[in-house]
Amino acid sequence: MSNLKKILCEKISCKSIWFMRQAGRYLPEFREIRKKNKDFIKLCLDYELSSQITLQPIKRFNLDSAIIFSDILMIPYALGQGVEFIKDHGPELSEINLNHLFSNKKEKEFIKVLSPVYKAIEITRKKLDKSKSLICFVGAPWTLLVYMLKLKNRKNEIQLDKINNKNFEIENIINELVKYLCIHIKNQINAGADVVQIFDSWAGLIPNKKFKNYCFAPAREMVKFCKENNIPNIYFPKGLREKYESFNKFVNPDGINLDPEVDPLWAKDKLKNVVLQGGLDPKVLLGAEEDMLQKATKYIQTFKDVPYVFNLGHGLLPETDPDRVKRLIEFYRQN
Ligand code: CP3
Repeated sequence: MSNLKKILCEKISCKSIWFMRQAGRYLPEFREIRKKNKDFIKLCLDYELSSQITLQPIKRFNLDSAIIFSDILMIPYALGQGVEFIKDHGPELSEINLNHLFSNKKEKEFIKVLSPVYKAIEITRKKLDKSKSLICFVGAPWTLLVYMLKLKNRKNEIQLDKINNKNFEIENIINELVKYLCIHIKNQINAGADVVQIFDSWAGLIPNKKFKNYCFAPAREMVKFCKENNIPNIYFPKGLREKYESFNKFVNPDGINLDPEVDPLWAKDKLKNVVLQGGLDPKVLLGAEEDMLQKATKYIQTFKDVPYVFNLGHGLLPETDPDRVKRLIEFYRQN
């Protein structure tokens, strides 16, 4: 194992369990706070509350890692784009003005807007037991662009005309975003986060000829940045199917999160020199308990002799029963 992978294993423990979206709407204690805080962005920027929400699932379930409560869309927000979260609908971003968005001298303002995130990490790291890791995150450039340029329709299809009709190169915007994402990663680590997870949730929607430019190349840049700065990293290129293999070879992250479409046995065979994480479909927590445990067993058994962090193939769903989460953690720890 390379040095940084060893560090990742030390930091996160490669026999540990946490969940994406472990702090969120399925928890009554989160809904209680959310009810009183209608503006989601403001909530993310309230460092006391953000820290409190981050620790809710740790208190309830004694999970091995905490993930800081924030959102990937804080990046366009900090760059000056309007971001609003509409109830039962999701995020809505204002029309983008790219010249304005990437005008010079943005860096100071960007860091200033995001400083409550760093403060939240600082105070959370102090409250969190030393044996547990604190995970920070960013969205990958492509996934951010899906929201920033409103590329996706309601059927989750990319509207290609929106890419082709613009008088700018997507690649240029991606490069610009990478710069800001690296700043945000570094600042979060300096504030006390142990590991970064990079979410490319919509990687599976990239047009075929563009995977290299929109996903692989910026991922390699960001992972290179992490390596140069000794930052343990986990990449989640969701929806890549068999391209997970070439992604891993080209990008070579320390850790890689699987999605439910990736067969665990295939992953174990094809994804080498990388710490594997996750994969279990969050929908199985909504069905029969027996089925949930059986599907979890497949991951636990397949990866029992390799470094593997137990997690899901996407975030916990809002309708999940917290007792199911408890049962799954208990089951994992018994096995
Ligand atoms: O994992 C965690 O517990 C940490 C917090 C976290 C949130 N968002 C809080 C959140 C993380 C890691 C994210 C990442 C995120 N945000 C992604 C990548 C992962 C993924 O889910 O694919 C994306 C694409 C977003 C953008 C986003 N934020 C959407 C599409 C939505 C609305 C729909 C939804 O899933 O809730 C959000 C809102 C959001 N982010 C909520 C939370 C807890 C729900 C806010 C509410 O209470 O209404």
